Amino acid sequence: MSNPNTVDAPVSFGPLQLRNRWAMAPMVTLFPEIADRPTSHHIEFYVDRARRGVGLVIVGATYVSPEGKGFPNQMGMDDDGKLPAFSRLADGIQRYAPAIAQLFHAGPKTSTQVSGHEVVAPSAAAARSVRYDAARALSAHDIERLVERFEAAAWRACRAGFAGVELHGANGYLIHAFSDPRTNGRSDEWRSPDLLPTLIVRRVRQRLPRRFLVGYTLSPFSVDGEDRADRRSLGSFVDLANALTEAGVDYLHIYRGKAEQAPRPCAFSGVLRRHGITVPLVEGTGIRTAAEAEFFLQGGANLVAVGRALLGRPDLLARSGREYSRANLAELSTSAGLRQAFADEYARRTRRTPTGDPSVEIDRALLSRSFGDSR
Ligand SMILES: Cc1cc2nc3c(=O)[nH]c(=O)nc-3n(C[C@H](O)[C@H](O)[C@H](O)COP(=O)(O)O)c2cc1C
Repeated sequence: MSNPNTVDAPVSFGPLQLRNRWAMAPMVTLFPEIADRPTSHHIEFYVDRARRGVGLVIVGATYVSPEGKGFPNQMGMDDDGKLPAFSRLADGIQRYAPAIAQLFHAGPKTSTQVSGHEVVAPSAAAARSVRYDAARALSAHDIERLVERFEAAAWRACRAGFAGVELHGANGYLIHAFSDPRTNGRSDEWRSPDLLPTLIVRRVRQRLPRRFLVGYTLSPFSVDGEDRADRRSLGSFVDLANALTEAGVDYLHIYRGKAEQAPRPCAFSGVLRRHGITVPLVEGTGIRTAAEAEFFLQGGANLVAVGRALLGRPDLLARSGREYSRANLAELSTSAGLRQAFADEYARRTRRTPTGDPSVEIDRALLSRSFGDSR
């Protein structure tokens, strides 16, 4: 893979040829409507950004099984019946740029109210705080079923026409809860932090054609780390990256959580590069300008991921003097700001004002969990 540190240069990414190094970061679409599969709103949301210049689109987390559903209006890759809708999404985006589907299981970070199922975790203790519903520890049999669910969902994404999948192993969701010793209180073999992540990667990699990308979202932060990396979480981060590489992952996406304050401490890609990781890396957070994007490329990333700036400014890359304002980005760090952005986008497309939809109320609580505020 060539590495001129300019974000607008075309680049190869595994078997894909991308027109530039801008990737759309995965974002669950919080439209005020209940939909468990892509609707025209999702399709327009992603296609709009692809059409206006993004090199790669990573579609926001889709759940692999119903009890892994984390948001009321989240899409699930859990059922063959949803294939036509996902094909429309993949086809729409891929008229302009390759698309990858992120796969996830919310694990302890959901509620029965949202999923309609019991909440599960590596161990019951992983229901870490009163903010989450009490969780049942998965049995060894359940874990085998879970791996099959990831495999089946990846195969579905392939049949729908996506160029790859990204396995969500960050943000305290189920895979992350297994790979963080602070939330994995098991006493059997599944206590080993790398076992579940590497098994899922191996099984998905074996099942899918070679040209189909298998990526993994990992975080340098501990589940409860509040966006701070310490020596212990950084050590586990490097160990996991090595184990995933050995298991055959095609790329790693470094998840940095919510907005960090400038000045940036470092590009975590550089940490992995210094430890000999050679697979392609995707990294971002807080990017508003090309110069900010290139900070990550210079640090060793191959692609930069941009989320909120593209949410607020679909035409960010098509504009001359591309820049998203710091104040607007800060607004999209709050659950209220995010809900408003999606409501605005929805209203723009439907010309309807969404009020009184119960999903909006549930979203407020869920978003607060993810973004740590109560506004
Ligand atoms: C509304 C919203 C939904 C998100 N959903 C996901 C998701 O589904 N999967 C994921 O890995 N990250 C998700 N994120 C995190 C983003 O991918 C990204 O890491 C984060 O927003 C920081 O990048 P930014 O500063 O460019 O927004 C989400 C962020 C937002 C704002």
